Amino acid sequence: MFARIDHIGVAVTDLDAALALYERDYDMTLVHRETVTEQGVEAVLLDLGENHVELLAPLSDDTPVGKFLARKGPGMHHVAYQTSDIVAELERLTIAGIQLIDTTPRIGIRGSSVAFLHPKSTGGVLTEIVQPAAGH
Ligand code: CO
Repeated sequence: MFARIDHIGVAVTDLDAALALYERDYDMTLVHRETVTEQGVEAVLLDLGENHVELLAPLSDDTPVGKFLARKGPGMHHVAYQTSDIVAELERLTIAGIQLIDTTPRIGIRGSSVAFLHPKSTGGVLTEIVQPAAGH
């Protein structure tokens, strides 16, 4: 089952400009910054209670987030639900008939295990399942 919302993912064109809003104006705490080459993004995490906001800037135009920005512009990109057992969760969702983009988990930001569900089977919402790394 899903334990809670882990983060919402927001696509931005310029991370530092976006941080002026989230860190300075909203007063959220920046806790992590990382280039995830495999996903073609530079990403940051900001703390919001037990949850996070994840800002994603594309490394190039031909990455998934780069294509998203070209199509829709900056804005809400995905929601991420947290689980303590991502393998079991993906099995359960597959049985439920939900189409997976990632059939096996891959490494996400800050050492987490992540998998995306296809928006075609989630009512148009790009959905990520996250199992945080130990200690997070
Ligand atoms: Co995410």
